Amino acid sequence: MSKILKMAIIGCGDIMNGCHLPGYIKMDNVEIIAFCDIIKEKAEKSAKEYAKEKGLDTVPAVYEDYKEVIALPGLDAIDICTPNYLHSIIAVAALDAGLNVFCEKPDAVSVSEAEKMKAAAERNNKVLMVMRNNRYRATSAFLKQRIEEGKLGEIYAGRCGWQRRRGGPPHGSWFSRKAESGGGPLIDLGVHMIDLAMWLMGNPKPVSVSGCTYNKFGNDGSGWGPLPEGMESVHDVEDLAMAFVRFENGACLQVEVSWASNVIEDDIFIELRGTKEGAMQNNNTNGKMMLYGHNENGEEFSIEAPAVENEVPQHEANIRHFADVLLNGVEPMFVPEQGLNMVKILEAIYKSAETGDEILL
Ligand SMILES: NC(=O)c1ccc[n+]([C@@H]2O[C@H](COP(=O)([O-])OP(=O)(O)OC[C@H]3O[C@@H](n4cnc5c(N)ncnc54)[C@H](O)[C@@H]3O)[C@@H](O)[C@H]2O)c1
Repeated sequence: MSKILKMAIIGCGDIMNGCHLPGYIKMDNVEIIAFCDIIKEKAEKSAKEYAKEKGLDTVPAVYEDYKEVIALPGLDAIDICTPNYLHSIIAVAALDAGLNVFCEKPDAVSVSEAEKMKAAAERNNKVLMVMRNNRYRATSAFLKQRIEEGKLGEIYAGRCGWQRRRGGPPHGSWFSRKAESGGGPLIDLGVHMIDLAMWLMGNPKPVSVSGCTYNKFGNDGSGWGPLPEGMESVHDVEDLAMAFVRFENGACLQVEVSWASNVIEDDIFIELRGTKEGAMQNNNTNGKMMLYGHNENGEEFSIEAPAVENEVPQHEANIRHFADVLLNGVEPMFVPEQGLNMVKILEAIYKSAETGDEILL
């Protein structure tokens, strides 16, 4: 592989322009040779901004059809930033075309699609990596290291969640249509926090899942404001999900996520219970990662994860890691098996909510 990774972007919407593009503009070991979006103007705008910020004489090529992009000569990898249902379709096509793939979360909208992605990466011997940006928060890295040093002891239970009081997508968004998104806040926000918790816990194998989901606000206008005139509401995903996951090693994880819920305030939280120390990051800790325990004399202690100056933005850090894996042989911190386990959990929560049963994986 060349020393400069040649990449193309598929999907030039909010996350690409807000978090991926600023990273690529700063990176010297990646060259974006093409931008693709079904809305051509969006691809053109991103390509122009990239060329301007990089000081390039030529604006990268622009496409509407991803199939033309994955056939480009000299391309090493693509970055998929499209609506969720397209992740697996585009990833499999690109892997089969001999490309490496970086893809936004969630990995896929169903277990069968996630299996296809994993199989395509294996049969083509290519790297498939899905965005896990929360692992790249400085506080996550601090806690991960402390866990690996054995300071927390055995981690046997966790809680995680992302509660929004009113924070769903606007009316009419693909995020609210199950056929395109695969689900609501569980697949949108839950995927971040479940992954963070499981990664910190050492990626234990999930064995059973129980969950409930609710859709109370999306269609009556009280959660998202009045429907614009003439617009038909299509909100066939949950706005709240609660779940409980058991792992093979006996540990458990409690999950709570919402786009709309009558709670005191928005909160993004993770809590781990270890035999030597517990960890907590939420509104009560002012967003700081705190560790709690008792010393040999039985006295309480607490430790605050140190602040890091000039922290690399988490999405950029994840993309830099993808480039490092391909260019420098760095060991990947994400493997497709983790993605498959993630989608198994998400799908089982939806199934459990539908049937009322605990789902064995
Ligand atoms: N990691 C994170 O923090 C984070 C945050 C937000 C969104 N995301 C994920 O990023 C993805 C995109 O989300 P977004 O908020 O940017 O959505 P968005 O709707 O703003 O952008 C999606 C873009 O894909 C384009 N598109 C649709 N079909 C296409 C196709 N066939 N070929 C090429 N382009 C196509 C759309 O025109 C649009 O510009 C989603 O999977 C979402 O879950 C991740």
